[in-house]
Amino acid sequence: MQTVCRDCNSPLEAKYDLEKAAKTLSLEAAAARPRGIWRWTEVLPVLNADHRLTLGEGNTPLVPAPRLGELAGLSHVWIKDESGNPTGSFKARGLAMAVAKGIELGLKEFVIPTAGNAGGALAAYAARAGAVAHVYMPRDAPAANQEEVKAFGAELVLVDGLINEAGKQAAAEAARRRWFDVSTFKEPYRLEGKKTMGLELAEHFGGELPDVVLYPTGGGTGLVGMWKAFDEMQQMGWIDSKRPRMISVQAAGCAPVVRAGIEGKERTEPWPNAQTEAAGLRVPAPFADRMILRAIRESGGTAVAVTEAEIVEAQQEAATKEGVLMAPEGAATWAALKRLAQDGRVMPSDRVVIFNTGSGLKYI
Ligand SMILES: Cc1ncc(COP(=O)(O)O)c(C=O)c1O
Repeated sequence: MQTVCRDCNSPLEAKYDLEKAAKTLSLEAAAARPRGIWRWTEVLPVLNADHRLTLGEGNTPLVPAPRLGELAGLSHVWIKDESGNPTGSFKARGLAMAVAKGIELGLKEFVIPTAGNAGGALAAYAARAGAVAHVYMPRDAPAANQEEVKAFGAELVLVDGLINEAGKQAAAEAARRRWFDVSTFKEPYRLEGKKTMGLELAEHFGGELPDVVLYPTGGGTGLVGMWKAFDEMQQMGWIDSKRPRMISVQAAGCAPVVRAGIEGKERTEPWPNAQTEAAGLRVPAPFADRMILRAIRESGGTAVAVTEAEIVEAQQEAATKEGVLMAPEGAATWAALKRLAQDGRVMPSDRVVIFNTGSGLKYI
């Protein structure tokens, strides 16, 4: 199974006949269909409806955050709260898609290297599909992520090292045993699942898009996926060329995208000795670095690194002021927004969406 470009070892991308898609798909048409990610079927890769696995992913709420907004002097702040997805994170969207397409392609055995949440999501959707999952996770990943993988009946392999080491081991086993490797961007389908977050944003804003989107970036699928969704929406004639400024948020202890952004580079340098409690942000060398940096630049956005102390404070504020218990990765976006508001890089009139990508419960 080909999974990346054989010439340049870059990610593959799913393409659609968007003119044809636009004949039957619109925001109105999607709103009339059963809830979830499969409403956008014309721009998704799974062709046979019987293969569309679901555990109720997608259609997450856009929660107004007026008290957080007030703290930062901003009038329009929302939290796109992904914590209600099956297995408690936005990873459900991408893995539902990748496993469903894998099943459609006749695959039965999947492998993933993961910081934590993606492993749980793969394990759940593999169980749902009656397929087999192997999960390679750093030994110091949150305990809840480890237990969840085992609970779904997947094989859990604990790795000494970070996600890049887990990735190496997973790829070696995948090649040896002919498992399908669903590492971030090493196959094209997880991106298509994450893309649905961008489609939902257009729906929340009545066919428009917010001015600013803050997204916690590890491997970057959500950010690149939303950017792809905006592109496709424009080609289908739903929106004009006005796009949100995409803000990539990383932890100061692992900020390869931020560094490349500051240095004006097209590619990241591997981050040495990566450290942060926000496990999903401990990605020292994102495979799709060029795509992440391109989306940030084309959107007129930026990349921001926040400290561990800022993440902890942000998590407390979101929980106590808005009732949303964010994953540290999600809290990082609120910490970054405060900084940008203070610097005048986000203005009071801007309509801002911060992504809480997962539930804080898994980190307790
Ligand atoms: C809760 C959470 N947020 C953000 C991320 C980073 O996501 P991405 O790899 O799509 O940038 C992860 C990845 O593990 C995660 O678990």
